[in-house]
Amino acid sequence: MFVRAAYFIGRPHAGREAALDRQLRDALPMYANMPGCRRVELQRSREAEHGAPAGLFAVLEQTYDDSAALQAALASPQRTRLRAHFTDAVLPLFDGSVAHVNHEADSRRFEAGDGSATEAAWLARLFTAARSHNDFRDEPVPDSFLVHLYELMKWGPTAANSGPARIQFVRSAEAKARLLPCLKPTNVTKVQAAPVTAVIGMEMNFPDTLPSLFLQEDARDWFAGNEEMIRETALRNGSLQGGYFILAARALGLDCAPMSGFHSEMVDRAFWAGTTIRTNFLCALGHGREEALAVRGPRLPFEAACRIV
Ligand SMILES: Cc1cc2nc3c(=O)[nH]c(=O)nc-3n(C[C@H](O)[C@H](O)[C@H](O)COP(=O)(O)O)c2cc1C
Repeated sequence: MFVRAAYFIGRPHAGREAALDRQLRDALPMYANMPGCRRVELQRSREAEHGAPAGLFAVLEQTYDDSAALQAALASPQRTRLRAHFTDAVLPLFDGSVAHVNHEADSRRFEAGDGSATEAAWLARLFTAARSHNDFRDEPVPDSFLVHLYELMKWGPTAANSGPARIQFVRSAEAKARLLPCLKPTNVTKVQAAPVTAVIGMEMNFPDTLPSLFLQEDARDWFAGNEEMIRETALRNGSLQGGYFILAARALGLDCAPMSGFHSEMVDRAFWAGTTIRTNFLCALGHGREEALAVRGPRLPFEAACRIV
């Protein structure tokens, strides 16, 4: 096996320790997504947490099968995006240097326990502990995350591989100013606070893209002249993709505020004018403020919502 280790020598900029921790932790799925990467591990030095003099802050290790696999990963577009994330979001928080060491290693591991804690942590992150947020902290979400989010969600299944969702990520002051007047009043503050809000639309003309996406046969014929089936397919599958969007965002460590409280004709005019795309729902993204969460509503128990027949 071949290991690439990054040694973070130095310390976080004053007051940025928690933000740096979060950005490093949030980058782990991006490391794991590099082609050929078998394992990623981040070890945070406890000493540095207590304000010790500049020393070892963290070690991040990736494991590959061999040197060729590592070299291929380093040349991949995923690595390019990861570097952009580092430059934009990690290095500005860190006062020090990052040294890389690539080496061949022979590893013997013994994992205590059955590994289920890790699985439980992922389930909590995606489902049981994740919440719908009402307010966001003043922390950036780099563009590289938005690309990564789409690169994950796009693999979720849709009928005839139609993938009708289209997304505009509203980040600039100009785009935010276009979106704010379209919102119902209860949603204004969360969109104002969020670093990014996604306008998730659906391409009503998705049959035209089927020849390049659904390779088995020409699926345009299934929809020709059937407006109701087109509407139903766009809504069902665009909404499924909206669900994949939320789970991908959570997997990357982002919090979501999904919203249907907006005037859809206004959002259509403001963001999709001159196209055949229609708005499905909005989703603000960022690092949520736990203090602003409402009491969590219960969910229907299995017996009330499901039946095994
Ligand atoms: C498609 C969709 C639309 C929603 N619209 C709004 C909205 O307009 N305003 C709002 O405050 N919350 C909205 N929510 C949030 C829901 O109320 C929230 O997801 C639900 O109560 C569960 O909360 P929890 O995830 O914190 O458990 C929406 C959620 C979804 C999935």
